[in-house]
Amino acid sequence: MEFTRHLTQTPTTDVERDKVLQNPGFGTHFTDHQVIIDYKDGAWRNPRIEAYGPIMMDPAAAVLHYAQEIFEGLKAYRHADGSVWTFRPFENAKRMNRSAARLAMPQLPEDVFVQALKELVEIDQAWVPDGDGEALYLRPFTYASEVFLGVRPALEYSFRVIASPAANYFGGPLKPVSIWVSRNYARAAAGGTGAAKCGGNYAASLAPQLEAEAHGCSQSVFLDPLNDNAIEELGGMNVCFITKDNTLITPALSGSILEGVTRKSLLQLAQDHGLKVEERRITIDEWEEGINSGQITEVFACGTAAVITPIGELKDGDKVIPSPAKTDVTMALRQELLGIQTGVVEDRHNWLYQLV
Ligand code: COI
Repeated sequence: MEFTRHLTQTPTTDVERDKVLQNPGFGTHFTDHQVIIDYKDGAWRNPRIEAYGPIMMDPAAAVLHYAQEIFEGLKAYRHADGSVWTFRPFENAKRMNRSAARLAMPQLPEDVFVQALKELVEIDQAWVPDGDGEALYLRPFTYASEVFLGVRPALEYSFRVIASPAANYFGGPLKPVSIWVSRNYARAAAGGTGAAKCGGNYAASLAPQLEAEAHGCSQSVFLDPLNDNAIEELGGMNVCFITKDNTLITPALSGSILEGVTRKSLLQLAQDHGLKVEERRITIDEWEEGINSGQITEVFACGTAAVITPIGELKDGDKVIPSPAKTDVTMALRQELLGIQTGVVEDRHNWLYQLV
């Protein structure tokens, strides 16, 4: 596809951008441009780069009423030679199309998705940070823009990509996070949209998120109450366990869990390192008992935004279950993954894709 460029007349100055890159935080600063592709009359049209800025939207746009919206998250990493790479972008392209199918939205060809990332990062490459654990977070998303209040799949959509320099998702230096067991709210159920990356799933995670924060935790863990409280995932990331017999366990994709690209990559890296890997049903009781008996030696959260973050403790009502202080395997996996992404560890699975 040929992208047209309508570049901003008011680019951020080097001084302002450097100030942002000194302390990028997460999700609060955005680059100078965005990608836009319209969907109308059954086809994707007019791929272009425009200045980053507000969306003018009709109040009756379908997304504002029935939440027909999907998104992705991936990162662009700066390598020592100045080149910029992303990680397994076709996995995100495929997942976005699976999400689109579930939300009755049109699919975008995978190569157009990846080209859109490349076009944006090429223009805004100066925004890719190079600090430890930092990257340019890319946020592709599609929403129903048709002006219509009937409940049916919209006929018009907008696909966009925006980009935001990012450091640690949880803020500050990396430290173990506390997790709250969500007993009052479920995230998703069989047959629902849990496996799709749609805004609605995250909206549903916010009341439990407030509950978690009220108990001093930074994320909730969601359970499947109809299946013996099998662990599903955290509000915005997957969860993994390391056992004393060198096994990495993560909940099996049940149809209501998001298939994380980081999750999938870690399953491979763990195997490369001689760990056994089990994708299976694991209940909250097994988590609690495993910690108490010493069978589970490490617990961590993983996702594009979270990378790999150790879980320091689990709070379940009045019970506090501390995770063991050990984080060796967690940190080794984190280092290897970040090493591949930033070009200092050999990319033996060909996961990297050069953007600039
Ligand atoms: C990601 O890890 O990219 C996510 O989408 C999680 C969250 C920030 C919504």
